[in-house]
Amino acid sequence: MKKTVSDIDVSGARCLVRVDFNVPFEPGTTTISDDSRIRAALPTINYLRERGARVILATHVGRPKGIDDALRVAPMAARLSELIESPVTVAPDSIGDETQQLAAALGPGDVLFLENTRFHPEEEKNDPDHSAALASLADIFVNDAFGSAHRAHASTEGVAHILPAVAGFLLDKEIRMLGSILESPRRPLATLMGGAKVGDKMAVMERLIETSDMLLVGGGMAAAFLEARGLRTGKSLLEDDGPLLAARIESAAKARGIQLLIPTDVVVASELSAEAEASVVSTDAIPADKMLLDIGPATRDAYTRALRLCQTILWNGPMGVFEFQQFAAGTRAIGETLAQHAHGNSPAPHSATTRHSGEGRNPSRGPTGPQPPRAGATVIVGGGSTAEAVDSLGLADAMTHVSTGGGAALEFLEGRALPGIAALQNTT
Ligand code: 3PG
Repeated sequence: MKKTVSDIDVSGARCLVRVDFNVPFEPGTTTISDDSRIRAALPTINYLRERGARVILATHVGRPKGIDDALRVAPMAARLSELIESPVTVAPDSIGDETQQLAAALGPGDVLFLENTRFHPEEEKNDPDHSAALASLADIFVNDAFGSAHRAHASTEGVAHILPAVAGFLLDKEIRMLGSILESPRRPLATLMGGAKVGDKMAVMERLIETSDMLLVGGGMAAAFLEARGLRTGKSLLEDDGPLLAARIESAAKARGIQLLIPTDVVVASELSAEAEASVVSTDAIPADKMLLDIGPATRDAYTRALRLCQTILWNGPMGVFEFQQFAAGTRAIGETLAQHAHGNSPAPHSATTRHSGEGRNPSRGPTGPQPPRAGATVIVGGGSTAEAVDSLGLADAMTHVSTGGGAALEFLEGRALPGIAALQNTT
């Protein structure tokens, strides 16, 4: 267990708070299209300000090579200022004399926002002198940047070895929520994987097969699973080793006796574009000139029925190219089902055709087969494009937890120690 801001005395202290405000925005403008990562850090920022701490925020934005005017923190600082209804001063740099003076001049509850940490190449090199320069601004380091916790950079890891270092409330929540999937999920636990490439999700699927009762696959990566079963997927995007990797997952699932669901029908088109004409085909009859772009209606039904039987669901990866409305139905159906299910509003499944094979590990399994859960399920949505999808559907608030980490969430769920977390103080 990691110490959090509530385990130490922060009153009046200068707190260097690493946040991940690497949010989508139009470079050169102040338009932020999704401010969820900024809002997610508010509990920590407000807690510190209410206790008279002097708050010094640090974030990276994008992947600049040196100073890049299009990647300055001003838009994020402006949005934060609106949200906390208080001025936020932007420092000209993340380190240096002028920044030191601004940090020293902060009064209780004041907020200083450092310029993009990645304007210095030493940041990503985790350079000890650079970490020391950052640390010299503050008395305490608070890491609330879950989205960057897989990076061993000066502002995420190096500084934590110099200052007393604790987690912010967001980081703590991410650790508890994602950790519950690995350690003590309410069962049955379903892992629903989507997205384009099986290779990107291989390590996490292999880890989650160890704990899940059911694995469901959608999105572009379903093509690899279909090919692995000897079906042809036309022009679908396929990595060279995709079918091999999918076959490895299938045999791991079989060896553990867990159910693996793959699509029985899909939405296809001859090209990926907003104008493309979509049609539904069975997965054993995908035309050679078409590509798989969403799960089909029969698969949607089977997946939603199966998910309603589960007490915990981890969802990582959209079911189709949801950015185009003709390929969005799969992602929408899953999102809506999970949103209802998280609130205990799921209708009882009307078919008993979906069977759960995690027998013996499933406390909800009754004498007549799996029983629908009574209370709301725990629904955890992985970050990145899945978070974008639930957000664009207006369903984010209905889920139990939507992770703010993309790569970080995947690495965490793979069971890897994230450097930005490992470096923080333990409770005992
Ligand atoms: C993210 O958006 O996933 C994080 O901010 C990490 O960004 P990075 O991949 O550039 O380190």
